Amino acid sequence: VRILVIHGPNLNLLGTREPEVYGSTTLSEIDAMLSELAGELGVEVESFQSNHEGAIIDAIHDARGRFDGILLNPGAYTHYSLAIRDAVAAVGLPVVEVHLSNIYQREPFRHRSVIAPVAAGTIAGFGAESYRLGLRALAHLLQGDRA
Ligand code: DQA
Repeated sequence: VRILVIHGPNLNLLGTREPEVYGSTTLSEIDAMLSELAGELGVEVESFQSNHEGAIIDAIHDARGRFDGILLNPGAYTHYSLAIRDAVAAVGLPVVEVHLSNIYQREPFRHRSVIAPVAAGTIAGFGAESYRLGLRALAHLLQGDRA
């Protein structure tokens, strides 16, 4: 089982970006945590980060045939990118949406996810742990009873 992890805009700044909201764990630390957990779960992970909507869409398209599922933190695109939503719907791979922060506890504009209706499920509010929970959820979905 192969899983693509996509980190959207501004997540390259994790560690120094609003640590009171997003925590102090860096993106490379999150990727290292995910690689370690992937080993335990018996899945393979590859990570990708982009600040560009089109690059994220290309990565979702290119995942078809190469990956079995996608762990996606779309960043602020969560709230308005119909193009990313359509890409998720188009490739038909299971997508688990993750957020570090609890978007429902924050500004009203963050309460809506346009991705959620096409995602298999969403995990939000547990900081870096959201990614680990999301990876477990996706592995469970892809491996059935094994995970
Ligand atoms: C985020 C939440 C978004 O509202 C925000 O724009 C981000 C990060 C999160 O992981 O909590 O960039 O997706």
